[in-house]
Amino acid sequence: MKELSLEEARARVEELRRLIEYHNERYYLLDDPEISDAEYDQLVAELRELEETFPELKTPDSPTQRVGGAVSPAFAPVPHERPLLSLDNIHDEKGLLQFIGRVKRLLQEEAPHVPLEFVLEPKIDGLSVALEYRGGRFYRGATRGDGYVGEDVTANLRTLKDIPQRLRPPHPERLIVRGEVFMQNQDFVALNQRREEEGLPVFANPRNAAAGSVRQNDPQVTAHRPLKIFCYEILVAEGESLPTTQWEALEALEAWGLPVNPERYLEREPEAMMKRLQDWQGRRHQIPYPMDGAVLKLNDLRAHELLGTTQHSPRWSVAFKFPAEQAITQVEDIRISVGRTGVLTPLAILTPVVLAGTTVARASLHNEDYVAEKDIRVGDWVVLEKAGDIIPQVVRVLPERRIGKEKPFKMPDHCPVCGALAVREEGEAARRCINTACPAQVRQRLIHWASRGAMDIDGLGPSLVERLVEAGLVSDVSDLYRLTVDQVKELPRMGERSAQNLIRQIDASRRRPLHRFLYALGIRHVGARMAQILAQHFATLDAIEKATLEELLAIPTVGPMVAQSVVTYFSQPETRALLRRLRERGVHPAEEGKAPTGPLQGKVFVITGTLSRPRAEIQGLIERAGGKVTGSVSRNTDYVVVGENPGQKAQRARELGIPMIGEEELERLLRGD
Ligand code: IVH
Repeated sequence: MKELSLEEARARVEELRRLIEYHNERYYLLDDPEISDAEYDQLVAELRELEETFPELKTPDSPTQRVGGAVSPAFAPVPHERPLLSLDNIHDEKGLLQFIGRVKRLLQEEAPHVPLEFVLEPKIDGLSVALEYRGGRFYRGATRGDGYVGEDVTANLRTLKDIPQRLRPPHPERLIVRGEVFMQNQDFVALNQRREEEGLPVFANPRNAAAGSVRQNDPQVTAHRPLKIFCYEILVAEGESLPTTQWEALEALEAWGLPVNPERYLEREPEAMMKRLQDWQGRRHQIPYPMDGAVLKLNDLRAHELLGTTQHSPRWSVAFKFPAEQAITQVEDIRISVGRTGVLTPLAILTPVVLAGTTVARASLHNEDYVAEKDIRVGDWVVLEKAGDIIPQVVRVLPERRIGKEKPFKMPDHCPVCGALAVREEGEAARRCINTACPAQVRQRLIHWASRGAMDIDGLGPSLVERLVEAGLVSDVSDLYRLTVDQVKELPRMGERSAQNLIRQIDASRRRPLHRFLYALGIRHVGARMAQILAQHFATLDAIEKATLEELLAIPTVGPMVAQSVVTYFSQPETRALLRRLRERGVHPAEEGKAPTGPLQGKVFVITGTLSRPRAEIQGLIERAGGKVTGSVSRNTDYVVVGENPGQKAQRARELGIPMIGEEELERLLRGD
């Protein structure tokens, strides 16, 4: 970079900050990014470099400060200017009618001209926070605390890309809003899965995961958690032409650039409200975030003042809570499964029972502490719920149903698969089999290697992996690349044709993109997303192998944990030997940025709705033909593949006039017709 004067640097810093804010908004608020992740990362890197060179230009609200670095001490108390109240709950139509009746009476007394209409919003199960903006800049963020005094979590909340550092003008001079920080169900499940693999305690539900992530001493940790926020209430606003209804308030929040849940209704008739509530309750499992009910708010804000509050809750609002979906069943057995990294996970085998629409026959018990804490025994009757609406989980046992024959569980201190010692390291919740050649670990590593998100070897699932390992043909992933048709066709339930297919699929995986290869290696702390970041940055496997800690840490989204793990992994003699064998056997991941050529070369696809095959599979087909799949529709999108029950992406495609195609048409494009 050429030498800049302080003034030139200041101008460029301002420009970079504006650009980054703008692209954050395109990405997170509008779902419509204009630049690639790599280009975005480059902007942040340039800004970081300038701030290093000119420390006087660093400000606490700079986007570079969002990925943390600073370690904040325990949280300082923040007295709330207006209390963050909680709500009374109702559960059915009777409660709804009573609530509306009460508001109607109060209004007749206090404000007879105010219309009896309510805004209905999803009630998100997360962590309630207050965000304060002064002069349009994010000034402070606090948890709800006891409603009157919260904790200062400003540094942590700055790491949420969802929270704008500056409001879009015209905005009030001073503004305090309330919102809910949450984790989407899928993100919660993935986070817990990683934690289980890494021997860390798991979160019970998305709410705990969100709260635990915000209330961290180290903002770096928060920065790596997939947190989102929706704002829903103006607590304090100083300025002109402020909204007078809740509906307008939500629109104003949106206009100032704050994220607001697009799902909301304005209703006058109790029947219509009940219909909305029932509809939401029926759809709750399709909603990507944890929704535990709905909130009804009287629309007229001035009437809020007149109606006032009781000790704990406002008289103008109520929460309609959905019933927690639970099922009761019996624990038939507790088995141990051994994962890719050797972690022993106790698994409850249950008498099958239907819960929230699916049959549940097993539930992970996570680790020995979890079983001990809940005192889960074989033979116990247990209450099940779905964490994050997806993962069945034992909530508690029913001790009153015990007959005295239940067997307490003891975690084995040897691996049940290979008999090697299973040790629990200090500070870890997990016990691990120490034998990396343990057949269970080998099998899991192979399954992971072949999986869709990784090397995507079609047909190589758990059962075939089992047969290959059993027959002694494969003991690590490099062995896959010297299998022959003759060897494979001799396996049980295999024939010439299926053997040929498998060999062809394995062959096709030799030149998968680098990010898939990196993810497939199963390096600790390197998930699919981190693998992409590394691949984009380094472009070749050689470069990643040689990367130093400093080089890795210079990448904005790479923290010390990931950097250390990558360096350690590539320095191990076993890794070097494995990579050498893979190379010898013709596995050469394609350099990033050099997409494979094919009929879909350079075309950008977005997939929406349910298709006849899993989405990852369709994505794989598109990528192998040279195309790219992105998460949101923008002007750069060439085609939107539409399945059943398409989401808002289809709507967006229609608005932008982007061609929408079905599966048949996609097949045709894939064939190059
Ligand atoms: S309004 C006085 N709106 O649910 C206004 N709350 O007890 C009170 N929540 O702790 C809050 N989504 O954290 C409101 N759209 C929404 C909400 C919401 C989730 C939480 C909030 C509060 C609890 C209600």
